[in-house]
Amino acid sequence: MFIYKRCFSSLSPAVVAQKGPHQSVLLQEVIDSFRGVNMKTFIDCTLGGGGHSYEIVKQYPSIETHIGIDTDPTAHGISRTRLIELQRDNLNTILVRKNFRHLHGILTEVLGSSNNVADGILLDLGVSSMQLDTASRGFSFAKDGPLDMRLDPSTLLTAEEIVNSWSEMQLGRIIRDYGGEKQWRLVARRISEARSAESLSSTLQLSDIIGRTIKRRDVGKMIHPATRTFQALRIAVNEELRVIEEVLPAAANALKPGGRLAVITFHSLEDRIAKQFFRLLDNEEDVNKNKSRVLKHEEELDEDESVTSLKKIPLKNSFRVLTQKPVVPTKAEISFNPRSRSAKLRIIECI
Ligand SMILES: C[S@@+](CC[C@H](N)C(=O)[O-])C[C@H]1O[C@@H](n2cnc3c(N)ncnc32)[C@H](O)[C@@H]1O
Repeated sequence: MFIYKRCFSSLSPAVVAQKGPHQSVLLQEVIDSFRGVNMKTFIDCTLGGGGHSYEIVKQYPSIETHIGIDTDPTAHGISRTRLIELQRDNLNTILVRKNFRHLHGILTEVLGSSNNVADGILLDLGVSSMQLDTASRGFSFAKDGPLDMRLDPSTLLTAEEIVNSWSEMQLGRIIRDYGGEKQWRLVARRISEARSAESLSSTLQLSDIIGRTIKRRDVGKMIHPATRTFQALRIAVNEELRVIEEVLPAAANALKPGGRLAVITFHSLEDRIAKQFFRLLDNEEDVNKNKSRVLKHEEELDEDESVTSLKKIPLKNSFRVLTQKPVVPTKAEISFNPRSRSAKLRIIECI
């Protein structure tokens, strides 16, 4: 039986050798997640800069079909250039510009079926450094840009719309539930007061309001006071929790027996969904316990904002969790790439 074990001590060559603006997180650990699997079909649901895809396709020459999904057109431009280097006769690479919440439909269209088709699937959630560092995308509280935050620029809802037109109560709820901000009432009130004078349109305008509301000593030296509110807005704009709940059952069903799903999360809300779902799959007896826990979480949220429950959809196979505890970055990786510090990797295998 494969149990995930670290098989290197410090930074591996794969980690150090990364090119491009985005450093792939837990790269060696993700590569190792698929050791021992007969890798023929690999699906990267979060292509980004193509860093994970590049190394996995390179290190598993048995891969014949590689599907790369990303909702952001910019990611496709960057990763395509990189992946072209790897083209070989037996490899079919298909890049799909769609939200991974449509995984079932994507696989049906590309492979003719969405069940028992994949040997390896990766979800590296969140945003890339390219997105964070491009001021015009509006993700950063440290760079001036429009209050946008859409991963897919063709969708309609922006952070600007939320901060200017959602009620103070709705704003407060997302800042509390998606940002975990203790001073959510105060932040929502200050935003509401500020927008009644003039509508808010820029990231620095918003981070300045929050900076004047929450004192640095209340959030710790390392965290900017606007961090939690920006996270909340990003989650709301992109429905980030809902899409994870939608993709996980589809990804589990897509695995062939022996295939593995690796999920990297970056904050506790994402990780809780992955953890609960994996537990649900791993142990049938836990189903009722997990269901009631999910429902409790739902009750805490407003109906219109509620996160869909991790329904027990009919799953074709059985599963085993390979990471009893999540795999986290080494100290060396965190000092090399501080953005990796909150990452957690969980792996499940279809049996
Ligand atoms: C952390 S980055 C992935 C980085 C990539 N693993 C690498 O090594 O370069 C996450 C990527 O997932 C994409 N993404 C996030 N949510 C998505 C969704 N619901 N559907 C499709 N792509 C999504 C983002 O646009 C971003 O490019």
